[in-house]
Amino acid sequence: MRLLVNIDHVATLRNVRAARYPDPVQAAVLCELAGADGIVFHLREDRRHITERDVRLLREVVVGKLDFEMAPTEEMVRICLETRPQLATLVPERRQELTTEGGLDVQGQARQLEPIVKRLQDAGIEVSLFVDPDLVQIEWARAIGATTIELHTGDYANARTESEREHELILLREAAQLAHELGLRVHAGHGLDYWNFSAFKRTVPHVEEVSIGHAIIARAVLVGLDRAVRDMLALVRG
Ligand code: PXP
Repeated sequence: MRLLVNIDHVATLRNVRAARYPDPVQAAVLCELAGADGIVFHLREDRRHITERDVRLLREVVVGKLDFEMAPTEEMVRICLETRPQLATLVPERRQELTTEGGLDVQGQARQLEPIVKRLQDAGIEVSLFVDPDLVQIEWARAIGATTIELHTGDYANARTESEREHELILLREAAQLAHELGLRVHAGHGLDYWNFSAFKRTVPHVEEVSIGHAIIARAVLVGLDRAVRDMLALVRG
């Protein structure tokens, strides 16, 4: 299984102060040096975290797989075609949401999505559709020509009781099984963390790649805090 690290939160932290740091591009380099198989970013319509400057630089410096998460809009297709990442993951996007809140309605939006999938694929970009573990959506993903799906693991991550968690794992397992039988590659992500990952990995088959952001960046803040305080103390007291 491959790990791609989403570095959007680093850009969020930079942008709250309109500062130059922390730089998501530097974070991407460190993630790859630590062994990550690639980097994910989501260029949103409102540019709340990643900017076009970041996209250009990430394209230049990322050595592993680059996953361009994007809404299926004309503007994003244009930028994605200019960027030429190895992977484009299409996600629904709503302005008011804090983060992506669910999978695409592939069935309902098939006519809009199909030509976008084709244009990106014709440029040599693998296209993945972010979907809930819903068998109908997965069949539609195959029907409109996607080669890959990313299973939305958010409901699993947010489950409050053991029985809810088990229920979500069963849905994810059946969805992954069907996708595999249809010849689709299976990715997964959203809300996967240091506590819920093992059960997910044990239970859900055929997952080739996971996209994880919040848990890793949040842990980095804490495990890196000791060193950051010591470095400042050396200046203050030195
Ligand atoms: N996959 C998709 C499609 C996402 O939208 C996100 C969040 O940006 C992730 C994976 C990563 O989720 P998290 O930050 O919770 O690990």
